[in-house]
Amino acid sequence: MAHPAIAVIGAGLMGHGIAYRLAAAGHEVRVHDPDPGARQALAAKIGDICDLLGTSRAALERISGHDDLASAVAGVEVVIEAAPERLELKQSIFAELERLTATGTILASNTSALPIARIAEKVGDRSRVVGTHFWNPPHLVPLVEVVLMGEANRASAEKASALLLRAGWHPVTVNRDIPGFIGNRLQHALKREAIALVAAGVCDAETIDDVVKLGFGARLAVLGPLEQSDLVGLNLTKSIHDTLMPDLDVTAVTHPYLQDLVARGDLGMKTGQGFRSWMPDQAEAVRQRLREFLVSQARSRRQD
Ligand SMILES: NC(=O)c1ccc[n+]([C@@H]2O[C@H](COP(=O)([O-])OP(=O)(O)OC[C@H]3O[C@@H](n4cnc5c(N)ncnc54)[C@H](O)[C@@H]3O)[C@@H](O)[C@H]2O)c1
Repeated sequence: MAHPAIAVIGAGLMGHGIAYRLAAAGHEVRVHDPDPGARQALAAKIGDICDLLGTSRAALERISGHDDLASAVAGVEVVIEAAPERLELKQSIFAELERLTATGTILASNTSALPIARIAEKVGDRSRVVGTHFWNPPHLVPLVEVVLMGEANRASAEKASALLLRAGWHPVTVNRDIPGFIGNRLQHALKREAIALVAAGVCDAETIDDVVKLGFGARLAVLGPLEQSDLVGLNLTKSIHDTLMPDLDVTAVTHPYLQDLVARGDLGMKTGQGFRSWMPDQAEAVRQRLREFLVSQARSRRQD
């Protein structure tokens, strides 16, 4: 079948965007969410994406909401789980999914950080379980990290990658089931140093953001870090590492500076204070700027 039916478990922030992209690519998508409000909001949220991207509303007709897990997954070839990030919940969903689906159905989790092997603990046939780590918003950001558990799930991971590629994402393979996979390890290694610099009084948080956005970040979308090293020459990279590596932050726990902010209730834009201070209009301007940037990137990829 060219476009097999797919079930998405969870109609939240990630689930609805994943469902949109799959439906836009021609799949029938059945979305299961136990929350009636989430199911009810689904059509409007998908419609908003169609409007944002200037695409037809045909995708909407291929998406259905289901209160019952069994009806959502009956006969599908792939299930993508995007339920809340709680291990016991995901373990019980995957045990149910194994019971309710045919042996060839791929069972994928969009967990941010839970080991795939832990999520699969109550599944008898682990070869069917893969990690598919999408990035927010999944209808605009092309990367999906497809996570292997050694050789056990390689065939399912390859099938999942092929399907994701056809649907317009860019799948990459993560060869080992490690915390944070690849992207979050890189992102949080950068945050570790950023927080340590602010905590040490080297600069303020706004300066960190300017340095990244206006400095090396200005080229990151077209030049990856290892590509950039090859571009400038590895002898230069080595010289810089010889000087820098002994000096970089190696705090092996959550930095006390971040722990203190959270303990004080300074949680970022939603409380008006995080690393930086935020008025509601400033926070909205950041969201708007991000949305416009991601949409323009998605549109230019479609034209390529
Ligand atoms: N938000 C992100 O930036 C992001 C990025 C990558 C991965 N993820 C991961 O994706 C998953 C979903 O995150 P989200 O941000 O969409 O969460 P969310 O809270 O927006 O959505 C979760 C949805 O799951 C539903 N749900 C609750 N119990 C359920 C059940 N038993 N079965 C099915 N659905 C159920 C909820 O009603 C809700 O609609 C998490 O594992 C998260 O870690 C999130």
